[in-house]
Formats: sequence, C-alpha cells, structure tokens
Amino acid sequence: MKAFVKLNPYSFLLLCVCTLRVFSLSVSFSPVDNHLINCGSAVDATVDNRAFVSDSSSSKSQVLTSTRTISLNDDNPALGTPQIYHTARAFTRPSKYVFKVQERGTHMVRLHFHRFKSSRMELYDARFHVLVDGYVVLSNFSGESESRTVIKEYLIWIDAEKLVLTFFPAKRSKFGFVNAIEVISAPKDLILETAQLVDGDRLVNFNGLNRQAFEVLYRVSVGGPKVTPFNDSLWRTWVPDDAYLKSTYGSERVFFGGRIKYQTGGASREVGPDNVYNSARVIKSTNATVPNVNMTWVFPATRDYKYLVRLHFCDIASISLELLYFNVYVNGFLMLKNFDLSYVVNEVLAAPFYADFVVDGDNLGILSVSIGPSNYSMAHAIDGLLNGVEVMKLNNSMGSLDGEVCGGFILKSWPRGNMGVLVPLVAVICLLLSISVVMHRRRTGVSHPVAWTRLPTDMTELSLKQAKQQLR
Ligand SMILES: *[C@@H]1O[C@H](CO)[C@@H](O)[C@H](O)[C@H]1NC(C)=O
Ligand SMILES: *[C@@H]1O[C@H](CO)[C@@H](O)[C@H](O)[C@H]1NC(C)=O
Ligand SMILES: *[C@@H]1O[C@H](CO)[C@@H](O)[C@H](O)[C@H]1NC(C)=O
Ligand SMILES: *[C@@H]1O[C@H](CO)[C@@H](O)[C@H](O)[C@H]1NC(C)=O
Ligand SMILES: *[C@@H]1O[C@H](CO)[C@@H](O)[C@H](O)[C@H]1NC(C)=O
Ligand SMILES: *[C@@H]1O[C@H](CO)[C@@H](O)[C@H](O)[C@H]1NC(C)=O
Repeated sequence: MKAFVKLNPYSFLLLCVCTLRVFSLSVSFSPVDNHLINCGSAVDATVDNRAFVSDSSSSKSQVLTSTRTISLNDDNPALGTPQIYHTARAFTRPSKYVFKVQERGTHMVRLHFHRFKSSRMELYDARFHVLVDGYVVLSNFSGESESRTVIKEYLIWIDAEKLVLTFFPAKRSKFGFVNAIEVISAPKDLILETAQLVDGDRLVNFNGLNRQAFEVLYRVSVGGPKVTPFNDSLWRTWVPDDAYLKSTYGSERVFFGGRIKYQTGGASREVGPDNVYNSARVIKSTNATVPNVNMTWVFPATRDYKYLVRLHFCDIASISLELLYFNVYVNGFLMLKNFDLSYVVNEVLAAPFYADFVVDGDNLGILSVSIGPSNYSMAHAIDGLLNGVEVMKLNNSMGSLDGEVCGGFILKSWPRGNMGVLVPLVAVICLLLSISVVMHRRRTGVSHPVAWTRLPTDMTELSLKQAKQQLR
C-alpha cells in the first residue's frame, strides 16, 4: 500500500495558504520603501553595495525631525569595522525619525547599535527606550552585548503614510543612541495572515498574524555556514545552528551544489535564500533499521510572550521522491505527523517549503524544535531533515516587545511640549488596547460552544487534495 500523508487539517490549511502564493523566481526583490540611514554622520556610507544616507540636517534624507541631537564619532575605529559603525547619533531628549511609507504592509525595521569610545560622550552610560509607532520595541536598553555590535530586527505592519521611530532617554541623566537604521517594505508573502497556534493540547488557527509586531530573535541556517546580508535576498543574517543543536548524535550535515527549485506553493527566495536551503541536517538510515533518534534544537525564550516558529525544509538529501517522511515537534507537541515534503511541494526534489507555528513561551524558559523519524520512515533513506529555523517574538497585549510597559506611559513619562500630538494619540491607543484585552479575556472566559477534536487527526491523501482544490 502506498503510504499517504497524515497531517491534521489545521496543518493542512497552513500548507494550502502557502500554496496560494505565486512568486516570480528570478527577479531579485526591490522594496518600494527602502530607507537606509547612516546616523550621526555628515556623509553617506556604503556597506555591501547598499547606500546608507546621512541623517545630518543638510542631508537629502530629512528623516530626523528632532533638533538638538548629538553627532558622535568613534575616536579609534577598529580596522574592518563597517563605516556605519564609525558614527552614532545620541539623544538627550525624546527624538524622532519619520519615514515616509509608500507601500502599506509589513516593514522590516533594523536598528544597529555599536558602542564606541567618543571624546564627546560616554556611550557606555546610555539607557533608553525605543518606540516604532505605538509599539515599544526596546525598554531600558543600553546597547550592551557580548559582541560589540547589536542589530535588532523587527517586522511591523504599517497601515499609515509614515513610520515614526522614537528614541526616549530612560531618565533625564541618561541618553539614547543609534548607529544606523533600516526601514524596508517586506515582500507580501513574508508574513502571511494565518499560522497554527498551539493552545494547550490542541492546534487552532491564529489569524491576523501579519498584524502583529515581531522581534526576530533567532535566524538559523541549519547545517550550513553563516549567511550574511550580502548573500540574502532581504539583507538578513542567518547564523549556523551549532550553538542551538542539543546533540550532534544521530544526525549529519548535508550540502547541495545544485539549483534550489523555488516552486509556486513553496517558499519564495525572499522567504529563504538559496544559501539557507542548500544545507541541512538529516537523520539517515544506513542499514535495515530506522534510527530511533531525534534532532533537537533549543532556543532561550522568556515566558509571557508568544513566539512564531518558522521551519524551513528543502529535500536536498533524498535520492528520489516519496522516500522522506518524518515528524516535527515544537515544545514537544507533534505539529506535523508523517510529514511528506515531496507532496507539499508538488513532487519536486530540492524545492523549498516552510511552516509557521505560534507557541507560548515555555515555563522552562526555552523553546525546542525536534525532528524525528515517523512511522512511515524507511530504512536506507533519509528519515528527518531541517534546513532553517526562525524564531520571532510577538508583541504582548501591552503592544510591547520588551516589558510590561505601554508606549503611552513611556511618552507620558517625559514632560510635554516637544513631543506634540504623538503623546495623546499613543495614550489613547494604549487605553483602547487595555480595554480590548479586558474584553477579549471576558469573551474567551465563556465556555467554548464548538466541540474540538483531539488533534492530530488522520486524513487521506484524497481528502487533502480535495481541500487543496477548494482553497484554490
Ligand atoms: C526601566 O527600569 C526601571 C527600573 O528598573 C523601571 O522602574 C521602569 O519601569 C523601566 N521602564 C521601562 C519602560 O521598562
Ligand atoms: C556568499 O555566498 C558564496 C557562496 O555560497 C560564498 O562563497 C561567499 O563567501 C558569500 N559571501 C559573503 C559576503 O558572505
Ligand atoms: C544500524 O546502524 C546503526 C548505526 O548506524 C547501529 O546502531 C544499528 O545497530 C544498526 N542496525 C543493524 C540491524 O545493523
Ligand atoms: C522525539 O521527541 C518527541 C517530542 O519531544 C518525543 O515524544 C519522542 O519520544 C522523541 N523520540 C526520541 C527517539 O527521543
Ligand atoms: C506509531 O505507531 C505506533 C504503533 O502503531 C503508535 O502507537 C504510535 O502512536 C505511532 N506514532 C506516531 C507518532 O504516529
Ligand atoms: C499585538 O498588538 C496588537 C495591537 O497593535 C494587538 O491587537 C495584539 O493582540 C497584540 N498581540 C498579542 C499576542 O497580544
């Protein structure tokens, strides 16, 4: 008997949503909004062929709307440090950058922090909050980290003609700073509307995914080397998985020299570049038995937030189609059962695919992803595979990605005057948010009238195909 796919219906819905997208393959992505700012510098800087425009008042960019800010220079920049890290702009009072938005939708916002020694100011004393529109993205931030450079990335839905980035000193004696800013409109398919949410012991649809604000916490290329912005379709960085892999026992790396076959119905090159899909880690059966082992990756994650876990798959290891079946777990929950990659990418090898899951931060302070053989896995074949993982934090009900403080309270913490209309506006949004949270809690407090089945449920291939047809 031919093995058929066993996915629960919710997983399948997600797969279909991905299938609905049509991508142009070879044309490289050129964003409608593409603001790259070299902060605190009087001149523009070029990094990896990308021009970062100066934010000084005489510059053509005109995005810094606040006056009385301070330009800082690194007195002694280390050799090889990108030019954008040689200068910074410091803020001793609330200050704003305003970016024109031509295309509404998800935008990538990257903030670059690189603390250096400057004769004018001690960057080590910085402490500040950062708001993107109404969202708190950083609170009590100092720019400190083990590596000297910190790049924070956010994905934020913008439904207005401008995006406002506000730097807010934590106290009158403190100040904020930033070295470079990127505000880029994301491709439409980067964050879809729906993912699956693990809610207790069942899977439900999580709608309005693209309307959340995200902080990208981990972006990992499994089995491969680091992928730099130079080699990524959206100028992202993907780090190797070694630091997150629990044990190398039972798995091996694979590399692929051929062409990655981006498909309608799979991931686009913007979702994941060739350099992520052409390496993987696999579980391999070399004799008559299927190994009884999982590959597990563990990511530190705090409670009180939800996380989007995006898993990237591309079968670059099997010798032929229909040989690869495996199970996928997130936080120990069976997300995809007997997952058949060749089926979801319309029977093509080396075709990329991704799946999105929303999960709650675990009490243990970790988030785990496991891949293991399934009951359909075969001997003398590949029995598990993963090419990439992304973990993104969702904003909490206060509209914050960093703590339990609402944007309105931060704005109110500074005497009014120079902040103008932003304060009352964000305060109102803040209030509305709190009300909607209370209402939501009330609503979900009542018992669920719809009975739910314990998932995963088996489905035949036939009904899957029918479902797929109906969704087209
Ligand atoms: C910053 O830290 C102080 C003291 O630790 C705390 O009282 C305040 O609420 C924090 N502010 C924000 C916006 O998180
Ligand atoms: C880009 O990728 C190619 C091939 O994968 C690699 O040889 C090269 O070093 C990469 N360049 C950068 C700047 O990462
Ligand atoms: C198959 O290979 C694995 C290691 O690769 C070994 O542990 C196992 O005992 C082997 N099974 C048989 C039946 O030879
Ligand atoms: C693989 O991980 C899942 C989920 O944590 C677990 O149920 C299963 O027992 C594990 N299998 C092995 C062989 O460790
Ligand atoms: C695999 O098959 C066994 C025996 O039929 C069953 O008990 C088990 O639940 C199955 N495991 C999965 C993950 O489907
Ligand atoms: C994120 O913020 C939005 C409001 O901007 C809110 O509707 C949504 O519920 C928040 N997300 C979570 C997971 O609380």
